Amino acid sequence: MSIVRVTDADSGEFTSALKELSIYFGRLSEKKGRDLTYNLLTYGCQLNEADSEKLSGMMASMGLVKAEDSGNELAPADVVVMNTCSVRENADKHLFGNLGVFKTAKKDDPDMIIAVCGCMMKVPANVEKVRKSFPYVDLVFDSQQIHKFPEFLREAVSTGKQVARVGDIDYIADDDFFPIDRQRKFRALVPIMYGCDNFCGYCIVPYARGRERSRDFDKIKAELEELAALGYKEVMLLGQNVNSYGKGNADGKKFADVLRMASDCGFAHVRFMSSHPKDLSDEVIELMGERDNIEKHLHLAMQSGSDSCLKRMNRPYTIKDFYMIADLFREKVEGGSLTTDIIVGFPGETDEEFEDTLKAVEYCKFDAAFTFQYSVRPGTAAEKLPDRVPQDVVTERFGRLLELQNALAAESNQKKVGQTCRVLIEGISKQGEGTYTGRTISNHLVNFTIPEDITICGDASLEGRLAMVRIDRARPYSVDGVMESLIDE
Ligand code: SAM
Ligand code: SF4
Ligand code: F3S
Repeated sequence: MSIVRVTDADSGEFTSALKELSIYFGRLSEKKGRDLTYNLLTYGCQLNEADSEKLSGMMASMGLVKAEDSGNELAPADVVVMNTCSVRENADKHLFGNLGVFKTAKKDDPDMIIAVCGCMMKVPANVEKVRKSFPYVDLVFDSQQIHKFPEFLREAVSTGKQVARVGDIDYIADDDFFPIDRQRKFRALVPIMYGCDNFCGYCIVPYARGRERSRDFDKIKAELEELAALGYKEVMLLGQNVNSYGKGNADGKKFADVLRMASDCGFAHVRFMSSHPKDLSDEVIELMGERDNIEKHLHLAMQSGSDSCLKRMNRPYTIKDFYMIADLFREKVEGGSLTTDIIVGFPGETDEEFEDTLKAVEYCKFDAAFTFQYSVRPGTAAEKLPDRVPQDVVTERFGRLLELQNALAAESNQKKVGQTCRVLIEGISKQGEGTYTGRTISNHLVNFTIPEDITICGDASLEGRLAMVRIDRARPYSVDGVMESLIDE
């Protein structure tokens, strides 16, 4: 594997492919007498979401318009792109099932284009299956080559043949290379690094996303300054392990430098995902405590509370190390929330090891947790480990963990009752008319109403506005409140 930096000098082919495709789609649109649409399906984490904002930006540059939301995720469009994830269980069944759904649509309209990309397309068996069993798929490519999407698409369109481009070069193309179609008015997703070098035993990401590579500090700074000037209220700095930012870069900048610089740009919220316990520095935690606009929320995957299990997982820290970070966070970041990922049923997990996980959850009092049942990923080290845990044991352990964690989450929400919190509003709540939704700087989800005596000017969805909300009720996964005032007028 090698790492290649994509520079402006490489933009010639990119730009000419975009131009040629916009001519091609323009003619097709005239022939059909309507706008051409695209349907982009995104699975997985925020890194895939960030990639999809680029894919969407490129398709808009080709003259395609986003298909209207019909409520059917699998609605056919002139161009369908599936940006896949390998972490979710049954991801393969999902993808192959969905591809089957588009077969009839493609038969009815041979001009339709179907492309599959993302993390699943780095697994050779998946690529082979698409090539053999779904010959009507026009294009397959991996996440590392997203900057080559227009070139690959041009080739598929001009040859009429299936194009599969899955390589072993880990490219890093900077954000300014792409037209980006940001999906949220208030939140900008900003990847600061790609790939992962940690090779946790269960995880496919290092294979799917390649070696760790960090963006240039000055380029991130320029992008953040532009986003702040455009009025974005929240920025989310992304990477599989943001705390090891800078590895291989010459300027010696660390993640704390990126965080401080992002905070200096003046956003209301600066968020980041994800952190690995082995790389998180005290300086980052101190910054979180000191700066009002850096989120008071740390997502720190624990995975297991047992040292022996952590060792088998290739997670190089002990549970004592983890407790020290948790304690420092609670001490330095007042009112902060600590969330985590936990895997139940990793190969060889004994009753005692699982009990240690429950103890650790009790100790850390996580405000929320993503809990996973271990499932094997072909090609990972854990695939070869003996002593798979029987499913009935996993189910029983998982239920116990969930019960404990749900009680802790409810406790965390209960602590918010009676407080008045600053909330960044995300829009109208799913709870219905007159209710809005947003997040506090500690990442608590808040649903709230607005008293009749407060008049709202501007966009009625209030998306991206800041408000003070009095919290009056805790629910299992959120809190309810009443707005006291808008504070950004
Ligand atoms: N880089 C992030 C970190 O280390 O915090 C994690 C990213 S991973 C996409 C999200 C979570 O998926 C992991 O923390 C782990 O708990 C879970 N996960 C990954 N592979 C898994 C597997 N094979 N079975 C069960 N859970 C898995
Ligand atoms: Fe996967 Fe571990 Fe990398 Fe996270 S740090 S992406 S869990 S290998
Ligand atoms: Fe999934 Fe890839 Fe993210 S495997 S979780 S989309 S990095």
